[in-house]
Amino acid sequence: MADVMPPNMLNERPRTPTGLLSNAEKDRLIERGFLGLYRWYTARSQETRNWNPDRSFEWRELRQDMPPELITVLQGFFAVEQYAPDFTSNLVHLVRRSHGRSHFQLRWGSEEEKHADAWENAVLFSGQRSPKWIEEYKERLKSQTWELPFPDAIHNLVYTVFQERATQLNYLNMMKIAQGRSEKPHLQGFADPVLAKVAQTIAVDEAAHYNFFLEGVRMYLYYYPERTLNAIKNVIGQFSMPAATLVPDWEQFFETVYRAGIYGPRDFQRDVMQVAFRNMGIESRKALEEGIRKTREVPDFDGGTFKTTAIFETFDYGAVEGDVKRLHVKIQDYEKEIGFDLYDPTEFVVNPEVPVQDTPAADD
Ligand SMILES: [Fe+2]
Ligand SMILES: [Fe+2]
Repeated sequence: MADVMPPNMLNERPRTPTGLLSNAEKDRLIERGFLGLYRWYTARSQETRNWNPDRSFEWRELRQDMPPELITVLQGFFAVEQYAPDFTSNLVHLVRRSHGRSHFQLRWGSEEEKHADAWENAVLFSGQRSPKWIEEYKERLKSQTWELPFPDAIHNLVYTVFQERATQLNYLNMMKIAQGRSEKPHLQGFADPVLAKVAQTIAVDEAAHYNFFLEGVRMYLYYYPERTLNAIKNVIGQFSMPAATLVPDWEQFFETVYRAGIYGPRDFQRDVMQVAFRNMGIESRKALEEGIRKTREVPDFDGGTFKTTAIFETFDYGAVEGDVKRLHVKIQDYEKEIGFDLYDPTEFVVNPEVPVQDTPAADD
């Protein structure tokens, strides 16, 4: 029908079918969710994770006889985290029109900056790298600039979910080694309580970051399922750790991390991708790819305003809806605690596109 209408009439036709949310309304709802979550996050971050990279650890008690492999790993952790100003400035710029997201990125950046300083302290107090060496290494790192892995906000949001989880896993496995629980022969018998505390403290931050970005992706999944599932598919298709192309001797670092049992392709599959998928209501990579393929087979009607329901079969939208609702309850509780609810409470609004789930018959 679109092709027989005069072009000027196309613009006058209502772009959103009756009963559905317009994109502007969806964007408003997502922004309100981000804003509420950001305020909750900041309060919580200050109450429970207000540590300091210098004062929170007994640096002089860090072991001076660490295996050289661990120094290589610490140095690599530091190298990645010290790009915090690049990560933050690029991401802030990308989402600058969103209050909740841009202010969050500043808070997030201030936490990532602490990670960089804590790992640098670990390298210094290991006694195995001189201050001069560290200075030159930093100069070398800073001569390169980290750029966004994807051009748009949704892909970068999805990327960050996987990246935060992968980073958390790296630090948890470092903690395990420092607690003397490594199964690798070259690391057995080694333990360092200071290093274990550093790794654990940073891993807790990374878990909080993962959760923030995950909640964001869930809101996108709920209101823009097709766009978000496509972004997830694209991100996992080319995932690599941040700054992998910038850090000198990355291959050696990656190899050492792998041999130490800290992180490798299998860990990504099992402990990053599968965990994030489960948290996003996606059964598997295969189910995701299959679902997207099926959606594309369904013909698009008349200018694309009629949505297909095939996309909702690609993931467990009921679970995602439940998660988005729970997020709103958390935000509302926080707003009541402060008194924001008296002025402008954050409300959850159902996405009417979501098909009502049939209750399966008893003999199905
Ligand atoms: Fe970090
Ligand atoms: Fe992080």
